[in-house]
Amino acid sequence: MALSSPTIKLSNGKEMPLVGFGLWKVTNETCADTVYNAIKTGYRLFDGACDYGNETEAGQGVKRALDEGLVKREDLFIVSKLWNSFHDKEQVKPICKKQLADWGVDYFDLFIIHFPIALKYVAPEVRYPPGFFYEDKKVELSKTSLETTYQAMEELYDEGLIKAIGISNYTGTLLLDVERYARHMPHTLQIEHHPYLVQQDLIDLCKSRNIAVTAYSSFGPQSFLELNLQKAHDAPVLFEHKDIKSIADKHNKTPAQVLLRWATQRGIAVIPKSNNQSRLAQNLDVCSFDLTEEEIKTINAMDRGLRFNNPLNYGVPIPIFA
Ligand SMILES: NC(=O)c1ccc[n+]([C@@H]2O[C@H](COP(=O)([O-])OP(=O)(O)OC[C@H]3O[C@@H](n4cnc5c(N)ncnc54)[C@H](OP(=O)(O)O)[C@@H]3O)[C@@H](O)[C@H]2O)c1
Repeated sequence: MALSSPTIKLSNGKEMPLVGFGLWKVTNETCADTVYNAIKTGYRLFDGACDYGNETEAGQGVKRALDEGLVKREDLFIVSKLWNSFHDKEQVKPICKKQLADWGVDYFDLFIIHFPIALKYVAPEVRYPPGFFYEDKKVELSKTSLETTYQAMEELYDEGLIKAIGISNYTGTLLLDVERYARHMPHTLQIEHHPYLVQQDLIDLCKSRNIAVTAYSSFGPQSFLELNLQKAHDAPVLFEHKDIKSIADKHNKTPAQVLLRWATQRGIAVIPKSNNQSRLAQNLDVCSFDLTEEEIKTINAMDRGLRFNNPLNYGVPIPIFA
């Protein structure tokens, strides 16, 4: 029998799966098959982005599953993100429509401002995905404010092109600022969250505003090893941490499942990525056992404020977490 994920209710009443599949670094060659197989396995939420460069292939996987009648569109929860170089008011809708066309769908269940960084517009015909860098490895900012971009996102929501609005990589200060101008408060915040970067204050702030939190990079340094990030190589591997291993042994689960359950049991959604079918299936089975309060506290205590997905770590001179 296929696995499934419980859902959480967003502030607008929409149900979002607590466990989804992350598409960052899923290769173009394998993406359609991976998405199709993930749907077969029971995944319903897919976390994509312009920046991952694989939305067309992800859409092909979705199409195959729809054509075969495995699922209906309304069973799926498709997430995409607005890249930094499309923050200018007049660029938000055209790029959202292009991304919808790439996926082959007519609405996103959730569309997220990927980073609180506005970069100069790059036409898709010139470079896509545009990335952070312009000529000579320079980064060129746009003058558009986050408020303006957010208002353009709200227009997409009003028009029904997107069914929920998300923000990502926002700090508490920015979230409090959104509250000053939003007509529709963000429905979700997506942040880096693992035992080395717990961000409990930010999570509590979201809770107080009824904003759902989605954790990315739940396995901490693991995702950043292949990017050759020195910080990730220097950090102790979470899967081999003695506390994680002993909790996993006690529950007869893998360390990865413990890391994901630590989040889901606290109501935080997860979107693990795997290029491997058996790990992908394992990662969906992370709501069928419970950690003890003591175990959750033990994992919380591993916090060391260690952030991997900081633009500064990729040579982008924009210190958004300063
Ligand atoms: N909003 C943002 O700025 C942002 C930033 C980063 C990520 N994200 C989203 O969050 C998703 C997840 O984060 P992530 O991709 O950084 O990392 P992740 O899911 O924490 O980790 C992926 C890494 O863990 C390995 N892995 C997966 N399942 C495993 C298991 N059960 N046992 C052992 N190893 C396992 C994968 O290798 P294999 O593939 O070989 O299994 C890969 O190396 C992304 O795909 C993306 O959708 C968003």
